[in-house]
Amino acid sequence: MVLDGTSPRPASRDALWWQSAVVYQVYPRSFADSDGDGIGDLRGVLAHLDHIAGLGIDVVWLSPVCRSPQADNGYDISDYQDIDPLFGTLADLDALIEAVHERGMRLIMDLVVNHTSDEHPWFVESRRGHLGGKSDWYFWRDARPGSVPGEPGAEPNNWGAAFAGSAWEWCPDRNQYYLHLFSAKQPDLNWENAEVREAVFAMMNWWLDRGVDGFRMDVINFISKDPALPDGEVTATGYGDGMPYFSYGPRVHAYLAEMRRRVFEPRPGTYLTVGEMPGVTPQQAREFTDSKRGQLDMVFQFEHVSLDHDGDKWTQRTVSVNDLRDTLGRWQEALAEEGWNSLYWNNHDQPRVVSRFGDDEGCWFGSATALAIVLHLHRGTPYVYQGEELGMTNAVFDDVTDFRDIESLDYYEQTVVRNQGDPAAALAVLRRKSRDNARTPMQWTSGPGAGFTAGTPWIRVNPNHVWLNAADQRSDPGSVYHLYRQLIGLRHSEPAVARGDFALLDVGNEHVYAFRRRLGSREIRVVANLSAADGTFGRDGLELDQVLLGNRPARERETDRLAPWEARVYLVGT
Ligand code: NOJ
Repeated sequence: MVLDGTSPRPASRDALWWQSAVVYQVYPRSFADSDGDGIGDLRGVLAHLDHIAGLGIDVVWLSPVCRSPQADNGYDISDYQDIDPLFGTLADLDALIEAVHERGMRLIMDLVVNHTSDEHPWFVESRRGHLGGKSDWYFWRDARPGSVPGEPGAEPNNWGAAFAGSAWEWCPDRNQYYLHLFSAKQPDLNWENAEVREAVFAMMNWWLDRGVDGFRMDVINFISKDPALPDGEVTATGYGDGMPYFSYGPRVHAYLAEMRRRVFEPRPGTYLTVGEMPGVTPQQAREFTDSKRGQLDMVFQFEHVSLDHDGDKWTQRTVSVNDLRDTLGRWQEALAEEGWNSLYWNNHDQPRVVSRFGDDEGCWFGSATALAIVLHLHRGTPYVYQGEELGMTNAVFDDVTDFRDIESLDYYEQTVVRNQGDPAAALAVLRRKSRDNARTPMQWTSGPGAGFTAGTPWIRVNPNHVWLNAADQRSDPGSVYHLYRQLIGLRHSEPAVARGDFALLDVGNEHVYAFRRRLGSREIRVVANLSAADGTFGRDGLELDQVLLGNRPARERETDRLAPWEARVYLVGT
């Protein structure tokens, strides 16, 4: 079967339908393996679609499935218009789109166009030489004058790459360096070149014609670089920080406006556009999502998931309730009148929230559900990352050979192999911080391979699948899964949750995170003890029997004391 965009999309309730939607992220490699090769695939997703639909999800975001050498698990694409054989075929994707639509959901693809794979034909052609063709499709620069090309310090500028080392790779074929903000396998596309933009827009149109409902755009605020590519301030890594020169470049708004004109504007219907934007400020986020500009529907920003970094992501600082309130509250305030934010704790790049901001040993259920209640009742569009709806925890890895992620392995190489750091210390850091924490297989059952695969999984399954799995939770009305269902249902049924305004309450309370949402005479109040100590909250006119939902038995709710990690949602007014 070939889809040509004729698979009926869910009817648009209104242009802002996504303001009351909940998105579920599938990381296909780790979701479900249908053919026993140990790697998740599209048919696996299809087979488990009812799990997602059963939660009440509106949109499925599929992390990259296009052809790729898999240096960064698909975030290094070598063919934008084909499916990697690891994951299946275009026909499998067509079938998935149709099945998603049949269930009243939508499907958005990951759009990775800040960079391609170095094996993409565009780059293969570009690296050949200076003259014509695609020579200018990437950032090529000569070595620094007076230096020996290829030697440290000869790079065109001092920027470090996101994973490790310099952001420049020497290319003897061309006698020049190319820029890669991520790994050397991910050269940055030169958006200054109109042909590059045309090629990207044509590809996006091809996917929309095929039936997809929008895109999550990978590091889309990096696509415009300061043309001078100036040196950055040197950081602890020994490299310069290029962020000020590429994270909000001079033409980023122009490129997104052009994308809108060339891709979305000419089409009937409504699409979802999500801009992943590391380092974006609330002010910039408002500009990007300003409905009058129409560039993006929402941003995906990182401030709250950087709170436990003490400098860079590999260092640790303790996060207090006040820290969380300051950050989340500031974003709520900044986007209160204009703009829209994504709400998330987890994705494929972040350690599991219950192990990170919660307490996966002392109070697993309480902390998984309290954090969910807080997030889902903010203003914005919530994202559920696969397994989060079960309270999945960080990985249990014994050794560095258990890790698979390029960023984690680069970190280990840099600290232990090159800088002779302590292997045990590096391992401890990876256990807490690695992206692989989010990438262990989805825990479907208590059986072998967690029901993820009949073969050998590409990355180790968490042994806690024997008690933490989807099959058990779906049949247990008191499970984390069912609390997520309730929260998602509340967003759909209660306009104050989707569209109400937001105000922090009880500011300064060291244990309890409290806020209200209000729309007309409807008010929702949330009180969540995000700590291992008892907490209290200010009642301020609350009738304690008006609890809509909570994560402790109803009989314990008749006081203004909250047990550790207890959270309640009150309905005030009629
Ligand atoms: C952000 C993606 O989420 C991450 O997984 C990837 O490594 C980088 N962008 C580079 O594409």
